[in-house]
Amino acid sequence: MIRIPSDTTALSLGANAVAERIRELAPDAEIKRSGTRGLFFLEPLIEVETPNGWVAYGPLEPDDVTAELVAGGAHPKCLGDIEAHPYLVNQQRLTFSKIGKIDPLSLDDYRAHRGFAGLTAAAAMTPADIVATVTDSGLRGRGGAAFPTGIKWNTVLGADSAQKYIVCNADEGDSGTFADRLVMECDPYMLIEGMIIAGFAVGATQGYIYLRREYPLADRTLRAAIENCYASGLLGDDIAGSGRAFNVEVRLGADAYICGEETSLLESLEGKRGLVRAKPPLPALVGLFGQPTVVNNVLSLAAVPFILDQGARAYADYGVGRSRGTLPIQLAGNIECGGLIERAFGLTLREVLNDYGQGCASGLAMRAVQVGGPLGAYLPDSQWDLPLDYEAFAAAGAVLGHGGVVVFDARVDMAEQARFSMEFCAAESCGKCTPCRIGSTRGVEVIDRIRADDNRAANLELLNDLCDTMIHGSLCAMGGMTPFPVQSAVKHFADDFGTPNVTPE
Ligand code: NAI
Ligand code: SF4
Repeated sequence: MIRIPSDTTALSLGANAVAERIRELAPDAEIKRSGTRGLFFLEPLIEVETPNGWVAYGPLEPDDVTAELVAGGAHPKCLGDIEAHPYLVNQQRLTFSKIGKIDPLSLDDYRAHRGFAGLTAAAAMTPADIVATVTDSGLRGRGGAAFPTGIKWNTVLGADSAQKYIVCNADEGDSGTFADRLVMECDPYMLIEGMIIAGFAVGATQGYIYLRREYPLADRTLRAAIENCYASGLLGDDIAGSGRAFNVEVRLGADAYICGEETSLLESLEGKRGLVRAKPPLPALVGLFGQPTVVNNVLSLAAVPFILDQGARAYADYGVGRSRGTLPIQLAGNIECGGLIERAFGLTLREVLNDYGQGCASGLAMRAVQVGGPLGAYLPDSQWDLPLDYEAFAAAGAVLGHGGVVVFDARVDMAEQARFSMEFCAAESCGKCTPCRIGSTRGVEVIDRIRADDNRAANLELLNDLCDTMIHGSLCAMGGMTPFPVQSAVKHFADDFGTPNVTPE
């Protein structure tokens, strides 16, 4: 058998042309279109099954394909056993254990890798026991806010209502992030299984996946996976003979970053403009169509089948402090070896950048790293020894967010990046509150004056005041966190703003 990836990244790098060449050379070969292993710098990466195990080759061009390669023999691009590759060997893949190995739409393949074992366990438990297991695992929301998932589920479980909902936030919008997409394109049944378990836990019978519109392949894969689940009795009115019902539908997002904010997402799902709602009431009590609703990120729900199958302890044994389990880190930007790294919380950012990333793709020195999406702080070299841990990052004025890490080399102009943050906020603001709607536009203007050396000292002070107003006066994280990248850029990269460098803490 030959595994050839079929996810968006591998396809954009030419995986189909490689597959075609393999079919020409070996028409009888059994080909499995799998997902990616997440080692993007080696894509298109194929694996050939031999009597001595799987042998990987990559990155391949169609012309690299030879009879020897198709037979699993010697080749200049032979990588050997990919699971022994330094990028993969030290990872702790709990959520991403199956990606790259299975055919995303094969239920048999999924079951052969313990698929639906978590659902089987959950079906034999009371709702309160399922919630307690998730609480004990220490799982926290992987969308960015890191709120304990079990506590959120418990609120919904305790709400008195005939109709409750599970909403999966798949509007993955943070810069440099792709882990949600990989789940949906490479292991979609894991997400569906997590949603069914969530439904059993809180008493919800309807789930929606609010999917980023720019993910057409994830859309097709999810819809096909949902159809297969209905055909096999894994979704519907009597799931696998349990007497319990759960239904799932995909809804395409509105092409707006703010629709990743949970209340704006709910408005959009209801067919309205994605305006942020004030909290309270929490969506857990008054959510979709006014009913109690679990809103969880793809990665939070995808972690659930492992927890129910292997037990809370098996998950909680990973991690540090209150950050339990694993974090799927998405390494991107100007980096030599970009890709997915799933590791227990606690490794340092420097390990990610050096051991995995192998420095900048440009060959130049690394200068700044933005963690946690466009609203995350820019971190200078002096902060790269921070452990990846929600509390450690918060203490340093930074956020882990959804685990996106974007790298910039020595050529980056951090004043331009700060301007971009304000510009992004101005473009993506829902417009409901003044500090965000007006403040971001004024922020662009003030940074322009600083960059033009127009009354620089006074404008830096004004920028600081503006950031303070946005942090304390905004209704949601969009306006409230945009100052993080701006202020971290001013603080740690002062030269770029024409002021002497301050000593970093
Ligand atoms: P939040 O801290 O207000 O809420 C976190 C979650 O916990 C929400 O789902 C909220 O409804 C829920 N919650 C809070 N108390 C609860 C209770 N007692 N019972 C049940 N549920 C409860 O954070 P918010 O505003 O939802 O998200 C902000 C975060 O989102 C930021 O920290 C940022 O890192 C992240 N973010 C993620 C993005 C992405 O693309 N993934 C983009 C922008 C921001
Ligand atoms: Fe809308 Fe911005 Fe206010 Fe959030 S902070 S509610 S995005 S205007």
